[in-house]
Amino acid sequence: MATVTFEVFRFDPDTDKEPRFKRYELEAKPGLTVLQGLLQIQAHLDPSLAFRVACRAAICGSCAMHINGQYRLACETQVEMLGSTVTVRPLGHLKVIKDLVVEMKPFWDRYKEIKPYLIPGESTPADGKEFIQSTDDRERLTNIIDCILCSCCYSSCPVVGTDPDYIGPAALLKANRFVRDSRDKAAEERLLLAGGDHGVWRCHTVFSCQEVCPKDLNPTGAIAELKMKAIKARFGVKP
Ligand code: F3S
Repeated sequence: MATVTFEVFRFDPDTDKEPRFKRYELEAKPGLTVLQGLLQIQAHLDPSLAFRVACRAAICGSCAMHINGQYRLACETQVEMLGSTVTVRPLGHLKVIKDLVVEMKPFWDRYKEIKPYLIPGESTPADGKEFIQSTDDRERLTNIIDCILCSCCYSSCPVVGTDPDYIGPAALLKANRFVRDSRDKAAEERLLLAGGDHGVWRCHTVFSCQEVCPKDLNPTGAIAELKMKAIKARFGVKP
C-alpha cells in the first residue's frame, strides 16, 4: 500500500524557540481523512501532537486548519485528494497555544460584539409560547443559519491580519442572519454595530472567506447586503 507523508506544524511556546515541521509516514488507506491521519499519528507515532477534534462529522468546526494551502475541516478532507504530501498548519491570525491548537478568544470576542442572539423586542411571545415565523420568512434564513463558526473564513481574510479589531466575515454573516430574521427587532442597532469603524466598510471584497467556507456559505454576499442596508438605514429606510 502507498504511503503518505504528513508534514505537521509543531510549536510549543513554553519550550520551543521557533516553530518547525515534523514529518510522519502513514499508510494511505482508501478513505483516510486528514483528521484520521492526525489521530493515527497521535495514537501510534507521537502522543505529544496537539490538535482539536470533537464531532468528526463537519458539524462542530473544531478541526479547522490550514491543509495544503487552504483552510479546511480536517475531518472531511480526503488524503487521496491531496497527493503524496499533506502539509498541515494551524488557523491563521490566532496565537498558537500548541501545535495546531490556537487561541480562539479574538474570534469569539468579535463574534460577541454583534450580539449573536435573537432580540425579539417583547420579552414574551404574543401567545405566551413562541415567536411565530411564516414559511417565507424562515426561507430567508436557509443556508445562512448553517455557519458552524469554524473560523476558516476569519483566518483566510487578509483584513483581519491588518486590523485585529475587524469584526470579520463569520460575525458579519451572523449579524445579517439576525437582520434578516422577521422575529428580530434590533436591526437598526445591529446595522450601527456592523457599520462601525471595524465593521463592513473594512471589507475589501476579497472573497477568500467565501472560497474557503466548508458549508458553501457566502459571507462576502452577506457583507455586501449589510453595506446596502446600512446605507439605507442612514436615509431612514427600514431594513
Ligand atoms: Fe475579508 Fe471576505 Fe471581505 S475575505 S475582505 S471579509 S470578502
